[in-house]
Amino acid sequence: MKIAVFASGTGSNFAAILESIKSKQITDVEIVILVSDNPEALAVQKAKDVSIPVFTFRVKDFSNKQAYEELILEKLSQKQVDFIVLAGYMRLLGQVLLHAYDGKIINVHPSLLPAFKGKDAIGQALDYGVKVTGVTVHFVDEGMDTGPIIAQQTVEIVSGETRDTLIKKIQEQEHRLLPEVIQSLANKEAAK
Ligand code: GAR
Repeated sequence: MKIAVFASGTGSNFAAILESIKSKQITDVEIVILVSDNPEALAVQKAKDVSIPVFTFRVKDFSNKQAYEELILEKLSQKQVDFIVLAGYMRLLGQVLLHAYDGKIINVHPSLLPAFKGKDAIGQALDYGVKVTGVTVHFVDEGMDTGPIIAQQTVEIVSGETRDTLIKKIQEQEHRLLPEVIQSLANKEAAK
């Protein structure tokens, strides 16, 4: 299964998928392109370091979402991408990609959805004072962090928890859960 990873920032989830492929924890999965709306993102550098093709763009260079998504779609088609994995891609997808990859786009989010959608889900959970938060991997639809849930993992917030300790715990779970889900999707594709 050929996947495209979309990332806007650090790319630790992207790196975790790469590592899972390298260590053969996941098989029959290839990252054929990294897409980023931020040419300066660390994720972009990480992809370049391991010679994974990269497509970057800046939203301000396009008149609308349709225009840049059409260009992304062209790149994905050239690489024969089967599945899109949003790993810290901080934009809503538009109809161009949602239509072309209907049911074939997943996202990882650092909360137990439907709680704490959108930006800074970890900060939102801390501010609210919940005792349990977690990680969700879900199919993507036109909403923000909505769409059918595939897998979730709880993470406890203990007394004295700081933002840094919680980020670390959440990321550990993301880096395990996301590759697991990708593998199960690849298995399903292979069985078709
Ligand atoms: C991850 O925690 C991911 O769950 C979150 O962005 C972070 C990206 O980290 N995504 C969202 O909040 C989506 N709404 P990374 O760049 O190190 O993978």
